[in-house]
Amino acid sequence: MEHTELRKARSLDELIQMLHNIFEGDSVNVEEVQSVMESYQSDPQEWMQYAKFDQYRYTRNLVDEGNGKFNLMVLCWGEGHGSSIHDHTDSHCFMKMLQGQLKETLFNWPDSKSHGDMVQKSQRILQDNQVAYISDSIGLHRVENGSHTEGAVSLHLYSPPFETCQTFDQRTGHRNTVKMTFWSKFGARTPFETTTSQENN
Ligand SMILES: [Fe+2]
Repeated sequence: MEHTELRKARSLDELIQMLHNIFEGDSVNVEEVQSVMESYQSDPQEWMQYAKFDQYRYTRNLVDEGNGKFNLMVLCWGEGHGSSIHDHTDSHCFMKMLQGQLKETLFNWPDSKSHGDMVQKSQRILQDNQVAYISDSIGLHRVENGSHTEGAVSLHLYSPPFETCQTFDQRTGHRNTVKMTFWSKFGARTPFETTTSQENN
């Protein structure tokens, strides 16, 4: 594998430009994406236009459509907000902390033969500017803002983009397919959707 030069993204705009370049080809170099996303030092001035919180649940806010190769979005997690256990629809998922802390819990895929509690593999707290990576071959995860006093903001890249994923009941391993929606796109609130949806990723 070719060793890629380590260029730093000095702003969110520059990060987006660099991601466009990286994703021009057909293959995804996970380490390269992770390192360029990690090189960006979070500056709230640059992403606050996308950081829209909801009182009741976390929000997904589209930042860039990556020429159809990826979706880049800002997720805003209020105090105590969290996702279900979910998969990533055969896509790559990168998650970078922009503000606050998130707890990521990894799970194995449920065994179709055994019923009951899903097996928890590991747990970690993601710190400022850290980038986590997950895909279906690694497993499933749940993401939570455990803080009762502070919101959390994270930057997510999914490639290729996807609109539905599966959520899992921790007690039984039973799964549901859910459609994901955006709270806002490019800084503007998206029109209200009448379909019930559960946001997860
Ligand atoms: Fe996820």
